Amino acid sequence: VLWMTGLSGSGKSTIANELEQKLHKDGIKTFILDGDNLRMGLNRGLTFSPEDRTENIRRTAEVAKLFTDAGFIVIVSLISPYRSERKKARDIRPEYFREIYVKASLEECVKRDVKGLYAKAIRSEINNFTGISSPYEEPINPDLTLNTEQEKIEDSVLKLENFVTDEFSIKNS
Ligand code: ADX
Repeated sequence: VLWMTGLSGSGKSTIANELEQKLHKDGIKTFILDGDNLRMGLNRGLTFSPEDRTENIRRTAEVAKLFTDAGFIVIVSLISPYRSERKKARDIRPEYFREIYVKASLEECVKRDVKGLYAKAIRSEINNFTGISSPYEEPINPDLTLNTEQEKIEDSVLKLENFVTDEFSIKNS
């Protein structure tokens, strides 16, 4: 499980999708669990309250476990703002879990504001918005940090790809 945590707009989903394409080319089975998508189905109805985010993370971690049982590399793309809940996700199967911090400052994410949600959150049109009106607890000791503010996306993806192949010894060459 590559558990990508970071602010909205930090680049988690982009990196997840690009990594998946690369791994597929090598014949590696992957499955992406993306917060935005899960919230349309499995996690529909969950809000952004602390309790519901906790449940969102818990369900996602359980689904990730099922997919690892089936032999997939699972790429999770979830803000997952709480250290305690990320720890619980890790504890389900620590030997297969790697925490990837997709790091970009709040200022940078506000500047990017791809979905226009930060602007709304700043205008208080959305409550409980991570970084604005809801906390984000940075990883203290992530297995890997991808600094998307300083490096290009393709460099972050390459770094992650190398990390995956080293950590899980999944390439033939
Ligand atoms: S998490 O905190 O519960 O892990 P998750 O990754 O599922 O969050 O969903 C985050 C996505 O939901 C954001 O990228 C954004 O598109 C959208 N979103 C809508 N409202 C909020 C909010 N209040 N806080 C954060 N993200 C929000």
